[in-house]
Amino acid sequence: MAKFVVAIDGGAGSGKSTTAKAVAKRLKFFYLDTGAMYRAATLKYLRCGGSTDNIDTALVREIIKHTVINLRQEGSKILVFLDNKDVTLEIRTTPVNNFVSPISALPEIREWMVQKQREVAEGKNVICEGRDIGTVVFPDAQVKIYMQADLKIRAQRRQKELDEKNIEADFNKVVENLKFRDKYDSNRVHSPLKKAEDAIILDTTDITIEQEVDFVEKIVRERLKEIPKIQNT
Ligand code: DC
Repeated sequence: MAKFVVAIDGGAGSGKSTTAKAVAKRLKFFYLDTGAMYRAATLKYLRCGGSTDNIDTALVREIIKHTVINLRQEGSKILVFLDNKDVTLEIRTTPVNNFVSPISALPEIREWMVQKQREVAEGKNVICEGRDIGTVVFPDAQVKIYMQADLKIRAQRRQKELDEKNIEADFNKVVENLKFRDKYDSNRVHSPLKKAEDAIILDTTDITIEQEVDFVEKIVRERLKEIPKIQNT
């Protein structure tokens, strides 16, 4: 079991990664980016020549058996490894963006990932971000946050992020991709994106990164004070 879990869920580009990363750094928690894991699995499927018209479920089952996905923290960076090769940048490219939602909707893929996510968190204080963290992966998380923001703001932030990584993307396509993924991720049958009943909503449309990080940090610190045994380990 994980020691203390902060679950951050929300739509694409709502600020989850930025916030989770910064809060993890301030509190020395382990940062677990579950979206990166679904992205790595999608990259593997595409590299194996998997069809994007109809999902090749036999190939998906083979991939699950023969694929190793790891996240490594190196200084302030989180690196993503697929079969021991660094794919940190490649998982953010357009083909992966366009196909990650259908792949992550598959129950086989979700079962594989959720098991892995719980294994990674074992014995740690973690900040875990994704779509189903507070509802499915860690329903007993000590803190649950649900992040949201206006679509235009989210698209602007996403494009800035891609620019910084030198990944080319047309603004209208970024908007369309966010819209498509949110709709797909919220309407899928298995573990759809939804706010856990006991999650606190954090709308980041009109606030700065500093403010959103402070907000989450404050909630976590307050909760930690209620559980002194964990705070001191
Ligand atoms: O957080 P992200 O944009 O990197 O996530 C990429 C995709 O992965 C997202 O569109 C849906 C899927 N995902 C998921 O289904 N469940 C999670 N816990 C995290 C991500």
